[in-house]
Amino acid sequence: MTVQRSRPLIVGNWKMNLDEPAARTLVGALLTILPFDRVDAAVAPSFPCLRAVLDAVTGSPLAVAAQNMHSEAKGAFTGEVAPPVLFNMGVRFVIIGHSERRALFGENDAMVSRKVVAARRHGLAPIVCVGENEAQRDAGQTCDVVVGQVRAALADGALESPGDLVVAYEPVWAIGTGRTPDPAEVTGAHAAIREALTERFGTPGIEVRILYGGSVTPANVPVLLQAPEVDGALVGGASLDPGSFALIAAAAAAC
Ligand code: PGA
Repeated sequence: MTVQRSRPLIVGNWKMNLDEPAARTLVGALLTILPFDRVDAAVAPSFPCLRAVLDAVTGSPLAVAAQNMHSEAKGAFTGEVAPPVLFNMGVRFVIIGHSERRALFGENDAMVSRKVVAARRHGLAPIVCVGENEAQRDAGQTCDVVVGQVRAALADGALESPGDLVVAYEPVWAIGTGRTPDPAEVTGAHAAIREALTERFGTPGIEVRILYGGSVTPANVPVLLQAPEVDGALVGGASLDPGSFALIAAAAAAC
C-alpha cells in the first residue's frame, strides 16, 4: 500500500448509526459525488453493515474502515472481532483508540498499542485517534497529552516503520459538540504529533497522514484543513449526509 500524503484522506465514522438499507443508500450517493480524482476516501460502518458496504463499493475507489477490532487473531473473546476476518472481507482501515472507545469502553494506551501492531500485522491500516479532554486543554496540556498518546500507541518495537499508519487528532471536547479548536491550536497539536512521529520513525515519520477530527462540517473544514500538517479529516455526524461529506471532501481537495 502506498502512502500518499500529497492526497488528503477523508474518513466518515458512522459510529452506531445506519442500518443496512440506509448504509447502502448512503454509499450509493457517495460513489456518485465524491471527488475521487483528488482525495482518498473511506467510510467506517458498524460491523453488521460491513458486508453490504463492501459489496456496494466493489470496484470503486471508496475504501472501507472498521471502527474497532481486537488485537488477537482469534480466541475466546466474546463479542470481539478479529483483524484477519476484517482484512479477508476487504476492510482496509481500522479506527483504533477513538475517544469514545477510551472513555466508554475502557480502552487504554496499552490496548491501543497492541491493536496498532495487530492491524499492521494483518494488513489493515490503523487510524490511531489521540486528543486532549477539556480540562487538559484548559490546563495547557494539549501537546503533552497527544504526544504521550502517540508515543504509547507506537511503543511496541515490533513496529519498525510507519507503513500506512494514519493518526487522527481529535480533541475530545470537540467531538459531537459543534465546537472546534482555533487554527493555532490545530497547528500546535499537529506539529507536536509530527515531531513525535519523526522522533519515533525518523524521516519516514514525515509521510504519515495526520487527520483532524471533531465537529468537522462543510463550513469549518476550509479553515481546519488549511493548518499546516493537516492531511485530511475524520468526520462523524457530517459523514451521515452525503452532500455534507462530499463538500468536506471537495474542500479538502482544494486545500
Ligand atoms: P463528529 O465526530 O464529527 O461528530 O464530532 C468525529 C469523530 O468522533 O470521529
